[in-house]
Amino acid sequence: MKGHSLLTLKDLSQEEIRFLIDEAKEFKTNRSRFIQNQPLRGKTLGMIFQKRSTRTRVSTETAMVELGGHALFLGKDDIQLGVNESLHDTAKVLGRMVSGILARVFDHTDVKILAKHSGIPVINALSDLFHPLQGLADIMTIEEHLGKLKGVNIAWIGDGNNVCHSLMVASIKMGMNICIATPEKYEPDPTILEYCIKNALSSEQVKMTHDPIMAAKGANVVVTDTFISMGQESEKQEKLRKFKAFQVNSQLVQHADKDFIFMHCLPRHKEEVTDEIIYGEHSVVFDEAENRLHTVAAVLKNFL
Ligand code: CP
Ligand code: NVA
Repeated sequence: MKGHSLLTLKDLSQEEIRFLIDEAKEFKTNRSRFIQNQPLRGKTLGMIFQKRSTRTRVSTETAMVELGGHALFLGKDDIQLGVNESLHDTAKVLGRMVSGILARVFDHTDVKILAKHSGIPVINALSDLFHPLQGLADIMTIEEHLGKLKGVNIAWIGDGNNVCHSLMVASIKMGMNICIATPEKYEPDPTILEYCIKNALSSEQVKMTHDPIMAAKGANVVVTDTFISMGQESEKQEKLRKFKAFQVNSQLVQHADKDFIFMHCLPRHKEEVTDEIIYGEHSVVFDEAENRLHTVAAVLKNFL
């Protein structure tokens, strides 16, 4: 992993994901030891953010400091990128200065360009296609609450988006089954679906439906995300109309396993999940948010 980029969980083997989750658990239980050992002493991370962030930014900056390194926040109004300078030149310059780049971008091609031209590790902090750091925190949270990954049944309810794609890849890598319920025309990206079907252990592992109740049936994990991802604001009215039947609420979760957990990467909106569910006894959303810190610490320690 050292010196490599993490653009999607497809880049990692099952063993590497296992190792990162174990490291994240270690960070969670023995945080003071990492703070004392300072494994990233002298390392710097340039954090390019073309979009807003709470969890990703705060978890990464905190982890860099606790591991002994330094993080530079490079927001869209802070650097020349996009106004005065190309991504290619930005990558070349950062590559000569910092130890790694973490980037939240609109177009997934941009993280690839950064990795190609910087020559240093690039970590995808969310693109239109993937959110691998969220995927790792989701795996950790599922294992923490259900005690296993293999054979766990996940119901993804809502948009076939970046977070969904990373959970699909995580599922096929770690032996979980995922049933994705979306409205028509909002299915996952066909190339990612094809990759998952091709690499699945069986046809049970990745399923698609337009019926949220069918997906929720017997699910151990019910998970959703915003219906309006960052950059899709102009589609809001149309999407809200089409996603009406996809809200996670008390009627829908009646179909899930009685000990199901509810997950959401946050930030949430009332249209995709009711207060009753997100603040209810099955919800693990704040453990999931906390695990963003522990998993990114494991990633930074092993990739930079
Ligand atoms: N879940 C997540 O990535 O949150 P932020 O947008 O706040 O970073
Ligand atoms: N799908 C959402 C995730 C936010 C963390 C988005 O891309 O905006």
